[in-house]
Amino acid sequence: KRLILIGPPGSGKGTQSPIIKDDYCLCHLATGDMLRAAVSAKTPLGIKAKEAMDKGELVSDDLVVGIIDEAMKKPSCQKGFILDGFPRTVVQAEKLDEMLKNQGAKVDKVLNFAIDDAILEERITGRWIHPSSGRTYHTKFAPPKTPGVDDVTGEPLIQRKDDTAAVLKSRLEAFHKQTEPVIGYYSQKGIVANLQAEKPPKEVTVEVQKALSS
Ligand code: AP5
Ligand code: ZN
Repeated sequence: KRLILIGPPGSGKGTQSPIIKDDYCLCHLATGDMLRAAVSAKTPLGIKAKEAMDKGELVSDDLVVGIIDEAMKKPSCQKGFILDGFPRTVVQAEKLDEMLKNQGAKVDKVLNFAIDDAILEERITGRWIHPSSGRTYHTKFAPPKTPGVDDVTGEPLIQRKDDTAAVLKSRLEAFHKQTEPVIGYYSQKGIVANLQAEKPPKEVTVEVQKALSS
């Protein structure tokens, strides 16, 4: 399967991705995770992306399309993939269609994580992540066994630099202006499944499974 996960910051894309990935043996390509890794390694890509990310604005289409084009060539992505956080503009969606067309493939399903903006600040400001595995915790909704420590490795958890109430405002603005039209783009193709993303994580997983079995 070739899946796209679309939703505002904190809607649960990164939380559901590992579950879907294991259930369907897909590769998980999260442009935000890849960009953060590039920023912390101070690669040329990271240096270019950092300013926009810190402000909660989108990185240029050319940069992210380049990353995805490269990542999709990996052998583990040939059978199928989950795109988490890409495409985020209509231009990115069109470029993706072109890339897939060259391989004789297409997007199978778009999961739209629909949720009210008002819920997102609490989710974002309470999030803690384990950077090397991508595991995500929440002080209230998914607390680690020991505060500030990853359950599996015992390594420290960190907070994302853009997970503040102020930067969230810009991220939401970018979502409504630039990414919501992408949902329209795929609706016209009849492949969007709407999820009620404000439900508890396990119930959202059930919705995902229903959407993918139909
Ligand atoms: P990115 O990393 O993609 O961030 P985002 O879209 O803002 O999404 P988040 O990762 O914040 O949300 P999520 O839906 O994954 O939430 P999660 O599951 O972790 O992008 C970051 C930046 O990179 C962008 O601002 C941009 O600058 C750049 N970028 C990335 N892709 C780009 C692109 N294609 N084009 C241009 N620029 C790009 O959940 C959040 C919290 O809530 C967690 O703590 C979790 O435990 C908790 N939680 C999850 N589900 C539930 C639930 N059902 N109930 C209660 N709590 C829950
Ligand atoms: Zn995420």
